[in-house]
Amino acid sequence: MMTIRPWKKSDLDAIERIEAFCFADPWTRDNLADVLKYPHYRSFLVEDGGQVCGYGCITVMFEHAEIANIAVAAPYRGRGIGKFLLHTMHTTAKALGAEECFLEVRTSNVNAIALYEKSGYERYGVRARYYGNEDAILMKKKL
Ligand SMILES: CC(C)(COP(=O)(O)OP(=O)(O)OC[C@H]1O[C@@H](n2cnc3c(N)ncnc32)[C@H](O)[C@@H]1OP(=O)(O)O)[C@@H](O)C(=O)NCCC(=O)NCCS
Repeated sequence: MMTIRPWKKSDLDAIERIEAFCFADPWTRDNLADVLKYPHYRSFLVEDGGQVCGYGCITVMFEHAEIANIAVAAPYRGRGIGKFLLHTMHTTAKALGAEECFLEVRTSNVNAIALYEKSGYERYGVRARYYGNEDAILMKKKL
């Protein structure tokens, strides 16, 4: 059965492995540990029989929420886990008082952009060369 819960320290090894597999610029162990350390983060982990399927985290500062990270392990993609993680993050952010949620995504990441558009995000800008030589698309959604 799939469940969703906050990260624990003992999840960080699995998250670090998936992170390295998913991203050209993965979060470091210290970046991941900060999520457990700082109170403006909220973390989410989807697991199935003890296996980590996906994870994400948000920051919430008053009316402003941000998707800081989201990833689904390759074998579990295409089953709605990304959509479920996002939905849970939005519900949590809204309950904490956020009114809008923001994110940045690489121009080439068509799967993630499709997920975000399907989840109600709209593009509002571009940050040139945000990822080395690649632009970031800036997206936001009303909660
Ligand atoms: C982006 C990511 C989180 C999507 O996770 P997922 O669990 O596979 O996504 P879902 O199954 O919930 O898909 C939701 C929607 O996203 C879109 N989508 C996701 N993967 C897609 C793909 N491979 N091709 C086309 N559309 C895709 C579709 O619109 C899909 O809706 P549909 O199934 O009703 O058509 C996953 O591919 C991933 O972890 N990628 C690597 C990490 C990453 O890029 N994170 C985002 C950084 S900004």
